Amino acid sequence: MSIIIAPSILSANFAKLQEEVDSVCGSADSIHVDVMDGHFVPNVSFGAPVLKNVQCALPLDVHLMVKNPKDRFDEFLALGVANITFHAEVVEGTEQRMELIEYLHEKGCKAGIALNPNTPLEAVEDVLGSVDLLLIMSVEPGFGGQAFIEDVLTKVCAARSANPDLMIQMDGGITDETAGACIAAGANNLVSGSFIFGAPDRTLAVESLRTAS
Ligand code: DX5
Ligand code: ZN
Repeated sequence: MSIIIAPSILSANFAKLQEEVDSVCGSADSIHVDVMDGHFVPNVSFGAPVLKNVQCALPLDVHLMVKNPKDRFDEFLALGVANITFHAEVVEGTEQRMELIEYLHEKGCKAGIALNPNTPLEAVEDVLGSVDLLLIMSVEPGFGGQAFIEDVLTKVCAARSANPDLMIQMDGGITDETAGACIAAGANNLVSGSFIFGAPDRTLAVESLRTAS
């Protein structure tokens, strides 16, 4: 399975966002967009208007850390984003989850479901056959620059053995020191914010994650 590297612009310098996006466009595979509402997580980030004038050749991968994800779909769909991920903790019923997944699919957008570090894999088994991506958080959502929670690797292994072809994304604390274990556990999509945007050479940083062992 090839490894997708998705820099999180939460750690980018927003005063020069276009330049920041350009700096990873040649090496990364998608751009990860962290949306926070101050309710589901204790932090507020940004919404679609911030991205409206940013030119980007890479697919946009939106991670909604919000209480009411459906309310935010249209603003990102209007930007033509490739993927929208919502959290399992805020949409608990299978019927409600399927409604969101089907809505995204009808609009030509991929759908992902995310799990906090303490939420078990069983909590999303009902929709794993319908989503395009499973996001396993390796930090508590809300902030960049936190330490990687190693315990989640067991969940990644279990998810990979039960779903050999699923896109499994990990997000939080991914560096050249933790990426190897993520890939070995079965993740094939790595989000990284502070490691990539804090690196003097971002192309090298992206490649160091892709080839980590
Ligand atoms: C955390 C966000 C992450 C974060 C990753 O709530 O979902 O995407 O930006 O940042 P680092 O790589 O610095 O942990
Ligand atoms: Zn994220």
